[in-house]
Amino acid sequence: MTETSSLFLCHLEDLPEYGTRGFTLEQQEIFVIRQAAQLWIYLNRCPHTGVALNWVPHQFLDLEGQYIQCATHGALFRFHDGLCLAGPCPGTRLEPIPFKLIGNKLYLTDTEKMPTYS
Ligand code: FES
Repeated sequence: MTETSSLFLCHLEDLPEYGTRGFTLEQQEIFVIRQAAQLWIYLNRCPHTGVALNWVPHQFLDLEGQYIQCATHGALFRFHDGLCLAGPCPGTRLEPIPFKLIGNKLYLTDTEKMPTYS
């Protein structure tokens, strides 16, 4: 990993152990899902209409904490691959953001190839 293609995002302890946290980068919004030692990062954009998934800051999950839920029309997405299982856009996927965890530091990788938020 080179310095030019990676971006420090946060420390692991900055994330709730079971939950989500949103981040606003220069050109886009992303969010991290943490389930103990497992992490996933996606672009904060619903494949249904392209809007941000959340209405409340850092809240991306359904009431049971089992799925990512879009606040606009309720689409439900799996954690591990962002696949929509229910709602108005089944079969579509959230856009994954590549990352690496080094020690307790979370880095976004391949930042030049990250999708722009438009
Ligand atoms: S905008 Fe997300 S389900 Fe419609």
